[in-house]
Amino acid sequence: MSGKYVVFDGMDGSGKGTQIKMLQERFGERVVFTYEPGGTPFADKIRALVRNDPLAKESTPLNNFLLFWAAREELVEKVVMPALTEGRHVFSDRGYSSTYAYQICGEECRDLRRPFLLLREEVFDKGPRYRPDLHVVYDLPAAVARERVMRDSTRERNHFDDRPLAYYERVREGFRKFAKEQEVVRFVDANQSPEAMHEETLEILREHKIY
Ligand code: TYD
Repeated sequence: MSGKYVVFDGMDGSGKGTQIKMLQERFGERVVFTYEPGGTPFADKIRALVRNDPLAKESTPLNNFLLFWAAREELVEKVVMPALTEGRHVFSDRGYSSTYAYQICGEECRDLRRPFLLLREEVFDKGPRYRPDLHVVYDLPAAVARERVMRDSTRERNHFDDRPLAYYERVREGFRKFAKEQEVVRFVDANQSPEAMHEETLEILREHKIY
């Protein structure tokens, strides 16, 4: 199994989407590109539910947490494992690093850390270990990220967007805490041009022998 699994993550407003597009242009068919929540027909239904349904906002933090994991289990079984087994690289827009940063830290549900660690093992470590080889996190000051989200008129707005600055700060800190949970995480300064971010991303991928 020589395929590598890389997750690209970061706060809303970090420019992660642009970076993924640049990677898609560069690597094309050589890499399987996917995203969370979603990436399979069933997982996309869960995506629509957690992202766009106003009822999701009224649901409990544990329920939202489980829905992200339900979508992830689908994606891992149907897309990630088969691709890695064939020796293909998988690049994913978000991963369980988001659940850690948003649900555990952003929402301040520290009690979810224990089920998080259990589910990580259950979903990713059955038989061979399929956990991401690397997480690339686009990092920038919380206030800059929030300002970008608020200013972006092209953005399709959802209930994730109207969150206070303190929330963004907790999410940013959440990615730092995540890096201490036995994960390989590299941070890229997202307060620079998309081209400079792309170059730094490629350098990290090279260092980790991903291409
Ligand atoms: P999306 O529109 O895909 O955001 P982006 O383009 O920035 O990736 O919406 C995904 C939202 O879901 C985003 O605010 C982060 C959040 N999220 C979680 O809260 N937990 C998770 O486990 C995942 C995967 C995403």
